[in-house]
Amino acid sequence: MTRKTPEQLRSARWFGPDDFRSFGHRSRMNQMGYSAADYVGKPVIAILNTWSDLNQCHAHFKQRVEDVKRGILQAGGFPVELPAISLSESKVKPTTMLYRNFLAMEAEELIRSHPVDGVVLMGGCDKTTPGLLLGATSAGVPAVFVPAGPMLRGNWHGKVLGSGSDAFKYWDERRAGAISDKDWGEMEVGIARSYGVCMTMGTASTMTGLADAIGMTLPGASSIPAADANHIRMCADAGRRAVEMVWEDLTPAKIQTEGAFRNAIVVAMAMGCSTNAVIHLLAMARRAGHALSLEDFDAASRKVPVIANIRPSGDTYLMEDFYYAGGFLGLMLRLKPFLDLTQITVSGRTWAEELEGVQVYNDDVIRPLDNPIYAEGALAVLKGNLAPNGCVMKPSAAAPHLLRHSGPALVFDDYPALKAVIDSDDLDVTPEHVLVLRNAGPLGGPGMPEWGMLPIPKKLVKQGVRDMVRLSDARMSGTSYGACILHVSPESFIGGPLALVQTGDIITVDVPARTISLDVPDAELERRRAALPPPAPRYERGYGWMFSRHITQADQGCDFDFLQTDFGAPVPEPVI
Ligand code: FES
Ligand code: MG
Repeated sequence: MTRKTPEQLRSARWFGPDDFRSFGHRSRMNQMGYSAADYVGKPVIAILNTWSDLNQCHAHFKQRVEDVKRGILQAGGFPVELPAISLSESKVKPTTMLYRNFLAMEAEELIRSHPVDGVVLMGGCDKTTPGLLLGATSAGVPAVFVPAGPMLRGNWHGKVLGSGSDAFKYWDERRAGAISDKDWGEMEVGIARSYGVCMTMGTASTMTGLADAIGMTLPGASSIPAADANHIRMCADAGRRAVEMVWEDLTPAKIQTEGAFRNAIVVAMAMGCSTNAVIHLLAMARRAGHALSLEDFDAASRKVPVIANIRPSGDTYLMEDFYYAGGFLGLMLRLKPFLDLTQITVSGRTWAEELEGVQVYNDDVIRPLDNPIYAEGALAVLKGNLAPNGCVMKPSAAAPHLLRHSGPALVFDDYPALKAVIDSDDLDVTPEHVLVLRNAGPLGGPGMPEWGMLPIPKKLVKQGVRDMVRLSDARMSGTSYGACILHVSPESFIGGPLALVQTGDIITVDVPARTISLDVPDAELERRRAALPPPAPRYERGYGWMFSRHITQADQGCDFDFLQTDFGAPVPEPVI
């Protein structure tokens, strides 16, 4: 392997020459107390830290960044911390998805505009993982992703509580009058007990797992609990490795091959992944130059069993249990027959090498292939006159009797309209109804909020109903469950067929056949279409205005059109 020389470092363009500009760059490093010996001729490693005082999941990054720096210094590099927008899933409104591409742009331009040779990406809370990886992919310098790690299990009266999933479950119990205000208050202080990301198989653990599968984390890093000392050591290791990757010129393009993304789809299915994985992986693969489509996910879901027995697809275990059972590497070991083991990771080694000596310690948590929790069906892609470009659901998390269902629509024009009536006792609704929410897509939401697990009407909750067919152009939290059909494309706001549904129309869903249809004659649909008023713009200035003009639909990954790799020629290196 040829190694870079110090003169070939990207940062040497800023710091190396004996000219006027470089005088300025170096004198201003002196201003901060750094001598040339600290950084000239050494890999300068940017640490893109998505810490913030409002991001509970990244609260430990303030300390962990010091561990990353320690590793970088030990390996002979020079660490520079560059903060990036944090995207706290629980607090950023209307939805972090409005800002995933904002982070992607920020990450790309932070890397490109600064004198850096390599990058450590610190993320984990839902959109931070795809945001950082999309940016690093386009920037193209060697990059290693440091996942925040899952938080400890929740605890209430000795019962385990899972992020999101149990909050949704007990909220319904409270609405049904089955638990007290005191119980609910105790859950509020028991469900999230440490820093780290949601510890169910939600979007965060799905996306960090997929970063691992693609090869962008140190192998197995994604399942280490945030509060475990192994996480601290992983951070230092990642720092050390980033320096070596610069000398080896191990760029994302060498790791993020089509085969790496195909491995990630297999892993997504076996994990019982968050539905959000579909959108993010499509965007990430396309940035890396591979034209994956919804069909690739559906095909994989028909052959790869769900073997990670983690909530919400599983009913008992959480990410902490997964780690003790062998963790991410244990899962990869079990999936060997489906994987391309010649793919490499940031370690520079192949998966075949990385999996030598790996073991699974608990067959109930990481199931053997012949004893899955679901033989197939982590995800299904449905098409039909209601979703010409597809929609997505998670059959493994739905009540089985709803996988073939026909029922009358109950339509809500937007989320406030739904909220206003869903708890009223005289709502005209039965368990057979299909709840429809529109204007919740990429443009209509705006930002495609996680409203797709529409609440079961309170009247039905009290009767014991816990699942219904629900249909929207929204997303749902990875910790959600139920017969929720999501990501309808094209979305209603831009005139997708969801905009034409009226309360009482019959909707038929056939998951085994992968179809979804609105049983209304075409002529009538055309009449309704002609009467549709044009939508009022969601934003008339600012970031939202730009977002509205450039966001692509869910089946395309919701990237901005101008950020996609094939939009134009590569961006040149900056003139110095
Ligand atoms: Fe951060 Fe769930 S809120 S991962
Ligand atoms: Mg989430």
